[in-house]
Amino acid sequence: MTTRTCIAVILAAGEGTRMKSATPKVLHAIAGRSMLGHVLDTVSQAGIKDIAVVIGPNREDVAKEICAQVPQAHIVVQTDRLGTAHAVLAARDAIGTGYDDLLVLFADTPLIEPATLQAMRARLVEGRAVVALGFEAANPQGYGRLLIDGTSLDAIREHKDATDGERNVTLCNSGLMALDGKKALALLDGIGNGNAQKEFYLTDAVSVARSQGLTTGYELAPESEVMGVNDRSQLAAAEAVMQNRLRHRAMLNGATLIDPASVYFSYDTQLGRDVVIEPQVVFGPKVTIGDKVDIHAFSHIEDASISAHASIGPFARIRPGSKVGEGAKIGNFVELKKADIGAGAKISHLSYIGDAEVGAEANIGAGTITCNYDGFFKYKTVIGAGAFIGANSSLVAPITVGAGAYVGSGSVITKEVLADQLAVARGKQMAKDGWGSTFRAASEAKKKATKP
Ligand code: UD1
Ligand code: CA
Repeated sequence: MTTRTCIAVILAAGEGTRMKSATPKVLHAIAGRSMLGHVLDTVSQAGIKDIAVVIGPNREDVAKEICAQVPQAHIVVQTDRLGTAHAVLAARDAIGTGYDDLLVLFADTPLIEPATLQAMRARLVEGRAVVALGFEAANPQGYGRLLIDGTSLDAIREHKDATDGERNVTLCNSGLMALDGKKALALLDGIGNGNAQKEFYLTDAVSVARSQGLTTGYELAPESEVMGVNDRSQLAAAEAVMQNRLRHRAMLNGATLIDPASVYFSYDTQLGRDVVIEPQVVFGPKVTIGDKVDIHAFSHIEDASISAHASIGPFARIRPGSKVGEGAKIGNFVELKKADIGAGAKISHLSYIGDAEVGAEANIGAGTITCNYDGFFKYKTVIGAGAFIGANSSLVAPITVGAGAYVGSGSVITKEVLADQLAVARGKQMAKDGWGSTFRAASEAKKKATKP
């Protein structure tokens, strides 16, 4: 089968009105990636390099998303929406190149898996001209029905066109289809629009094939894999399925999730071995976690890399552009932004470290703030290896604290601290003996005198 050529045609021309959104439906995200992006990735994972995507008119945003992910994809525009067969024919030129297999996918059916695409192609290898992808629907209302006879597919009947008897069938059409690539154009051109909706139905490829004496078949998938997304409620349902897959994958790859259902991954989260993730942790896109990292409860991490043996949280926020070195400790209520934290450094409590470099083994005291922004520009803070920043210090950037230097607690540091120096920048403490009792006596006398 690997020697057979294949083109995937992804239909993405729908208007998605039920999303009630300024964003095209297929660009709505699941686990941090657009639905269209998921379908493109699945097709690529199935080893299919030739891809045509059918988009609606004036959809530069959709075209841009496709180019970013699969630059060689053919992008074709379906100007009038005259049905799914009409949409596939928008890719006529690409299909006409003459592939062995043609797969039709929907960009709003984002949970489809590569193995299912392979299984559909395997049915074509059996000599079938058309293979529908079916599922047992919990509620078949609205779906096309697969009318089968053994392994052969007699017809697909759209709900609107079905008889009462046919509506009792629970084996439904996912919409995805595989066609013999050499016969596909003839089949698609044979489809008419004599139906309830006056549309050119892709599903009619079955009856056209059978009228030409060709064999047709079907493949099955779980309903969760072929779930279509038409509104935000279904978007959330698809997100839930995807999150469960990502959690499962993380655990199979050697991460411990104490409460999997409360951990949210991005499609691209990379976890090392023996990572322990406590409850209520959220990963945004572009996160890499090394081996044996502990991520404590209620932490939020995006676009960051965390090296082996580091400890994050609880309640840590790691923002884009951050790197945490091996064995470093980022404690509770610590926010990092574009911060490069050296190996073994400790930022244990209540700090904001942004646009900063912190050297190896440095110790950043509780409440340390890098003052990186003057309202117009951002400035960098550099803290050397082994430096000790006393609690409640403000480091006014641009600023450098040298290796091994000490900053006294409560300092507001505005000038460079050289290596190994002690810098203290706070009001000097003064002391007056006996001041307390003198003050109390005077105050009590004053209170008595003013009493009515
Ligand atoms: C389709 C199937 C139905 C199946 C259902 C599963 C057909 C005729 N029917 O019905 O058997 O049970 O999916 O959800 O295929 N599209 C275009 N251009 C068009 C029309 C559609 O790009 O002119 C795209 C849509 O954006 C969508 C997909 O094709 O992604 C399916 O179209 P839709 O109108 O939603 O088909 P259904 O009526 O749901
Ligand atoms: Ca639909």
